[in-house]
Amino acid sequence: MPSKNNTPPKKSWQARIGAAQDALAVQFVESLSFDHRLAKHDILGSIAHATMLHSVGLLTATDLSEIKRGLNSILADIQTKKFHFDISQEDIHMAIEAALIKLVGEPGRKLHTARSRNDQVALDIRLWCREAISLLTNKISDLQRTFIKMATEQGHHPMPSFTHLQRAQPIVAGHEMLAWCEMLQRDKDRLADCSKRVNISPLGAGAVGGSTLPIDRAKSAAFLNMPEITHNSLDSISDRDFLCELAFDLSMIAMHLSRWAEQWILYVTTEFGFMRIADAFTTGSSMMPQKRNPDMLELIRGKTGGVYGQLLALLTMMKAQPLAYNRDMQEDKRSIFFAYDTVDACLTMAAAIVLNTTLLPDRIADRLDEGFADATVMAEYLVRKGIPFRTAHHIVGSLVADCEKKSFAHLGDLDLTSMQEKSPLIDENIYRILGANKAIQNYKSHGAGGLPQLKTQLKRWHKLLTSTT
Ligand code: ARG
Repeated sequence: MPSKNNTPPKKSWQARIGAAQDALAVQFVESLSFDHRLAKHDILGSIAHATMLHSVGLLTATDLSEIKRGLNSILADIQTKKFHFDISQEDIHMAIEAALIKLVGEPGRKLHTARSRNDQVALDIRLWCREAISLLTNKISDLQRTFIKMATEQGHHPMPSFTHLQRAQPIVAGHEMLAWCEMLQRDKDRLADCSKRVNISPLGAGAVGGSTLPIDRAKSAAFLNMPEITHNSLDSISDRDFLCELAFDLSMIAMHLSRWAEQWILYVTTEFGFMRIADAFTTGSSMMPQKRNPDMLELIRGKTGGVYGQLLALLTMMKAQPLAYNRDMQEDKRSIFFAYDTVDACLTMAAAIVLNTTLLPDRIADRLDEGFADATVMAEYLVRKGIPFRTAHHIVGSLVADCEKKSFAHLGDLDLTSMQEKSPLIDENIYRILGANKAIQNYKSHGAGGLPQLKTQLKRWHKLLTSTT
């Protein structure tokens, strides 16, 4: 309701509620302190809405141009930090609308036609998620490129692989670097899938039941580059599934980064000594002068819990909420912003660490052939001679036991006669295939950890990351 001097009342609903809100309530209910991050999306959504209202004859051309002028100038003020945020406006939607009315007068009072903050916030958070997904996807690609660079430059060196953290089969180092790329690729796929459910317009669902005015919801959606509109106004304003999905996708990314961080924390220990992180990405100790701690990796690992926490917060916030909009949902933004900011920072830091880490191939080589990692190679040699795998496994197992009895560190330390006692089919060619350096050249299966497969994988990654993000 317009006030006499044409200045808008403090809040759009003040005509109904009457008494000024308690200061404590003002503080408690506001979301402006965090949802100001939606300003850009809110303004874009409003311009789309106004454009649609004009196209169906609910706004004049002058109304529309005044609204656009006002909104663009508000956006400029927000971006240059000239905008005064007043938490008594509650949220970004009311703050912008009030500023618009102040700036352009009567046309501003028409913007909220056939719209409610309920569909407005549902739209804004979807637009925010859409942008977040695109930024995250690029960041993940950047991180993948650092692993690919490392695999291209340092990936040919042999190293052990592990299962149960015990030495398993020899591989090339690049194979491990590209394993992280595979996980990250699935993360991008998940985000792309989530974006299908994010990029749908709820605008025009109104407060809960839609509008009696002849609005064209498809038109505002098209303006926003949203290929679909929602089909049920109740669901449109109560749906936050896509936010839970995004929080899950962020949790998966965090989990993957924590696995990588843990692996490298082990690799930079004196015990492993597989790699060295540049000084600039380590920290010292206040007491122990020799320390170079991998704190950045530990923080990436440690921050994972906080991201998972937001997923749980969102799922719990949504649990048992009756249809349709409830103020509980205002909390969704805190959670998703926190989860996004955390993962975003971790992705940036991870890329910097990978770029500043060097493999220590000599250190790896020193103990590479300990642990009988070539035992499977020998068993497969026997299979090629016609011995059933289970029997071959048994023969090689007993040869490993012989080595241990004789304090030999490698299968290749056994002489041919003692090998032939276990199987007469073994000949002197066995010495040509034993040892990690030889094993990495002999892998045959697609996706294996050998040198030829590294070349194939790198080719695929170079193609994947130049053609798409
Ligand atoms: N700040 C609110 C939120 O983020 C906007 C929607 C408020 N709607 C309402 N009917 N009170 O959820």
